[in-house]
Amino acid sequence: MTEYQTVEPDDQAVLRDGTIKLHGAEAFEGMRKAGRLAAEILDEIADMVQPGVTTAAIDDKVREMTLDAGAVPATLGYRGYQHSCCISINHVVCHGIPSDKTLKDGDILNIDVTPLLDGWHGDSSRMYFSGEPSLKARRLVEVTYECLMIGIEQAKPGNHIGDIGAAIQQYAESHRYGVVREFCGHGLGRLFHDAPEVVHAARAGTGAEIRPGMLFTIEPMINLGKPAVKLLNDGWTAVTRDKSLSAQFEHSIGITEDGCEIFTLSPRERHKPPYA
Ligand code: MF3
Ligand code: CO
Ligand code: CO
Repeated sequence: MTEYQTVEPDDQAVLRDGTIKLHGAEAFEGMRKAGRLAAEILDEIADMVQPGVTTAAIDDKVREMTLDAGAVPATLGYRGYQHSCCISINHVVCHGIPSDKTLKDGDILNIDVTPLLDGWHGDSSRMYFSGEPSLKARRLVEVTYECLMIGIEQAKPGNHIGDIGAAIQQYAESHRYGVVREFCGHGLGRLFHDAPEVVHAARAGTGAEIRPGMLFTIEPMINLGKPAVKLLNDGWTAVTRDKSLSAQFEHSIGITEDGCEIFTLSPRERHKPPYA
């Protein structure tokens, strides 16, 4: 049995109890601001992404923009993670660690940011192109963006969480891509990662019923090859087992009476690359 709990803004910091929280107007207002900041950061760093730049330089820019806006990168110090964003290049599926490594011509990369603003988490990621990726890489990125938006269409009252994954899996597999199973979307709000788990491959009609007031992310990771991933020895970096390219997009959303509100939409219409 899924349990739900209507929460007031001040309750929530302490509620790590696995129930699905149903938030009110004040939470939506907070999420709107945090989400907008995440989107503005992702918009701005698009101009930095090109061959020769280090991922550490991008991470510095993310930290600077986050702090300048009066927010904190939620990843800094999160379970020992020491950076302000995750940057996942080519066959890296997620949680790539910024470093002195430079971007190469033709790389595709995901940048994932999570500003914590006034107690609310805005979690979003997009793909970027460094130089001119191959046609098959660009196609993967395009379809992965469509997977996210197709999943979001299912995020409405009366549907179940599994309907989101079912739609994503059906679409990705129709292109012969693999849907990553090990990482999922998640509830968020005052907490970075909360119930429910939003899996990206599922059977329709399964999982918790979607209700107004729920806040969660959808963040499909789609592989050009097989779905399997492995974790590198650094304890963070997840890569495709078959070394195939992987792509991901992530939005933070809130369920409304008749659908959902996307908190992390790009104000500059930089939804997907190319961003020029
Ligand atoms: N932003 C990631 C997510 O979408 C989580 C990153 S946690 C980190 O849930 F520690 F790896 F940064
Ligand atoms: Co997330
Ligand atoms: Co994220």
